[in-house]
Amino acid sequence: MNFPVTRMRRLRYNGVLRQMVTETKLSVDDFVMPLFVIAGTNVRNEIKSMPGNYQLSVENVVEECKKVYASGVKAVLLFGIPAQKDEDGTVACQHDGIVQQAIRAIKKEIKDLYIIADVCNCEYTVHGHCGTIVDGDVDNDLTLVTLAKQSVSLAEAGADMIAPSDMMDGRVAIIREQLDLNHFEKIPIMSYAAKYASGFYGPFREAAESAPKFGNRATYQMNPANSDEAIREVELDIAEGADIVMVKPALSYLDVIYRVKTEFRMPVAAYNVSGEFSMVKAAAANDWIDGERVMMEVLTSIKRAGADIIITYHAVEAALVLNRLK
Ligand code: PBG
Repeated sequence: MNFPVTRMRRLRYNGVLRQMVTETKLSVDDFVMPLFVIAGTNVRNEIKSMPGNYQLSVENVVEECKKVYASGVKAVLLFGIPAQKDEDGTVACQHDGIVQQAIRAIKKEIKDLYIIADVCNCEYTVHGHCGTIVDGDVDNDLTLVTLAKQSVSLAEAGADMIAPSDMMDGRVAIIREQLDLNHFEKIPIMSYAAKYASGFYGPFREAAESAPKFGNRATYQMNPANSDEAIREVELDIAEGADIVMVKPALSYLDVIYRVKTEFRMPVAAYNVSGEFSMVKAAAANDWIDGERVMMEVLTSIKRAGADIIITYHAVEAALVLNRLK
């Protein structure tokens, strides 16, 4: 039926009706808040390029987690900035490593907060690459060893989920194997399955002090031009035992999120990364956009594309908006 019988605006005239026919509804249950834990005491360094985000020492991260939980957001993703770095990132595997300490402290005070531990070496290596360097590049198979150790150590500290973000081949399989050997068969793996070599990580690298000291990450992270390759990456991670697959970044890759969701029907996470967050904040600070409105539009678009889980620095702010609208 065409115009004048069909009028698309008929369902738009009334606010109640518009709500009834809304296809995509955000919920606090969708969100994960990333947090940065740094060695030391009483540290609360604002990350200049990411307003409202801080490098927090353990006791302050616990306080921040209380705020996160009170907002209704029930999951955090932890990154660590250690006091000392080394060649291969082994500092990340220590029993009293910075994230391990944070996990134990958070679990003591807010036992129902779900803690996802990012697994990668770039914050822990002196050169800032995601693994062990051999002949000027990251050696895949040597790096698998440190990633598996780091994962087991984080699980021992009480992490609820392990999220490898390094993009080494075969890491999901070895992490699953080592978790299982250590009786952590109930701990899921959320793999950063399609992670692109992206300029949008700039602010994060300031936050996590993890910028590579030479070269770039193009030999392990994906080429932004490719989407068939993302499908192959996701397929392999699922075959290796990934429980949730992630696409990262989110906004320039909504087509990839959509493809991954429609082709695999698996739980899909999307990482609304630091640069995406900072652009909204910077434009809003200049009054060029309505920051709150754009934040909600961005998050809705990620969910509409097919993401079940949205990892976002907007999590708490967006939760407060959703609570207000209730
Ligand atoms: C570590 C890691 C990165 C991000 C998450 N885990 C940075 C990178 O690969 O350089 C980026 C997150 C963000 O930009 O918000 N491998």
